[in-house]
Amino acid sequence: MNLQTSCEDCRIIALPSIESERKGRLTPIYNFEHIPFDIKRVYYLYDVPAGSERGGHAHRELQQLIISVSGSFDVVVKDGEQEKIFTLNRPFYGLYMPRQIWRELTNFSAGSICLVLASSLYDEHDYIRDYEQFQAFKGFL
Ligand code: TYD
Repeated sequence: MNLQTSCEDCRIIALPSIESERKGRLTPIYNFEHIPFDIKRVYYLYDVPAGSERGGHAHRELQQLIISVSGSFDVVVKDGEQEKIFTLNRPFYGLYMPRQIWRELTNFSAGSICLVLASSLYDEHDYIRDYEQFQAFKGFL
């Protein structure tokens, strides 16, 4: 079985955006209905200085959905060979990240909030934080 993932497996998922007679909108997210994994952890990035960067790592097994619930930022995804850039700037679009994809979060707007839904609990052993090590892991070195 080929478990190799590529940038083509990273995709924008359109989430529900419910508008009622109450003003404003609401987005619910259900395991396996809107996203292809079971949510085990939720975290969010905030107070990120405008223009700064986060990420710079890959995960061996973790899958994620990354959402800009406020403001905007870019996610650069790399599979060791190719790369793609996704701009997230609306709370009803999520970027699905399969396992084993390098990511860099860049161009944060002031006051932006990055919500991450994750398929497993925090585990530092799941991280690959060195890009050359990642390329070797993917078989490109
Ligand atoms: P990290 O994943 O490296 O941040 P980013 O990818 O956004 O740049 O995590 C930053 C720090 O936070 C690191 O010391 C680990 C810690 N952390 C947790 O304790 N729990 C978590 O769920 C996450 C995501 C990070």
